[in-house]
Amino acid sequence: MSVDDIFRRIAERSLSSNIFNDREVLRPDYIPNELPHRDEQISKVSSILAPIFRGERPSNVFIYGLTGTGKTAVVKYVLIKFEEYTSRFGKSSKYSYINCRYDDTTYRVLARLADSVGVRIPFTGLSTSEVFRRIISALDSLGVPLVVILDEVDSLVKKCGDELLYRLTRVNEELRKGKVTIVGITNDVNFIEGLDPRVKSSLGEEEVVFPPYDAVQLEDILSRRAIRAFKPGVLDDGVISLCASIAAKEHGDARRALDMLRVAGEIAEREGVCKVTKEHVLSARMEIEKDRVAEVIKTLPLHSKLVLLSLTIGGESRTTGDVYNVYRELCRYLNVDPVTQRRISDIVSELDMVGIINAKVVSRGRYGKTRLIKLNTDLDTLIRVLKEEERFEGIIKNFRSR
Ligand SMILES: Nc1ncnc2c1ncn2[C@@H]1O[C@H](COP(=O)(O)OP(=O)(O)O)[C@@H](O)[C@H]1O
Ligand SMILES: [Mg+2]
Repeated sequence: MSVDDIFRRIAERSLSSNIFNDREVLRPDYIPNELPHRDEQISKVSSILAPIFRGERPSNVFIYGLTGTGKTAVVKYVLIKFEEYTSRFGKSSKYSYINCRYDDTTYRVLARLADSVGVRIPFTGLSTSEVFRRIISALDSLGVPLVVILDEVDSLVKKCGDELLYRLTRVNEELRKGKVTIVGITNDVNFIEGLDPRVKSSLGEEEVVFPPYDAVQLEDILSRRAIRAFKPGVLDDGVISLCASIAAKEHGDARRALDMLRVAGEIAEREGVCKVTKEHVLSARMEIEKDRVAEVIKTLPLHSKLVLLSLTIGGESRTTGDVYNVYRELCRYLNVDPVTQRRISDIVSELDMVGIINAKVVSRGRYGKTRLIKLNTDLDTLIRVLKEEERFEGIIKNFRSR
């Protein structure tokens, strides 16, 4: 979190707001105490885990659905209940929730697992099989069932392969007393197809699917959270249904819908008014889109950034050849080796695919075909993001003013 974020959050919280009653209720990591339209998934996940109360090993589960369909919220909600009941009925069991987007290496996942069974391991230095051995002996001496939740497990597999998953699904064969259940969660519906068939069948002992929400469901979800989040009467008519219908068009993502509602409230607050209107929602949508684009640009590799920079210099639209000439000039300026025009042409296609630029094939008569390339993103946002990188400052100052 940046210093701005930290100060802004605290400062905002200390101001008494005209708009918000409790804005935390709209944050993505808040777990509400009700999850409407997810009864089926909640009861399915709980019945899969329930055998723990008889001391049996629950089946492994594979949970999938697009982002913002409530997978993380449902699983965490069930885990809270699970803990409540295990302690109420004096059952001992453990669980370990790991988000593989943050802990995205085999070693870090294992370190987390070790931690949850009370084994401290150093940050680095041990081999994975040694860490495994220690986890297994801890599980055997604890003798309790362990549920391992691997959220966004595709991040781990994309980075490190499915070796760890394979070992985890086989770990029960090595245990004398403990029992391990794996709950794998993913936003990437195609991911499971690429897995080792043995991992696939073992992880998929049970499956729970999270379909996207429709506009009516999103409206219901938002309304219930809004009651706690906003002061009474601040939301204009149609604000919630507008957030819901925009998010429903973009694959039914509840996170997007909640973000839009929260940002709309923040914009109204900044303006010092005491009503959130549909115009605020539309501005919120644009603000969020800019953030998304900024995030994408930030993580691009160097040569893709240089292509974008080339497009900020000179005329409105140009051919791959034009872009390549400017690009080479920038490379010379930065003292980096340029890649081939062929590769630049691929980069142009990639940027076109994520929607940051627009590349249109046009015919040039007997000269054949070429692509006309245009920026398809807010220029100020693009410059602001690229400026954050020190080595681009000179380019932005010297080349753009020509
Ligand atoms: N049925 C629901 N009721 C209330 N809030 C929900 C519901 N489904 C999702 N949310 C909220 O939407 C956001 C995204 O949900 P999340 O569980 O993180 O999605 P996923 O893990 O599928 O990407 C979270 O803030 C979550 O609390
Ligand atoms: Mg999630």
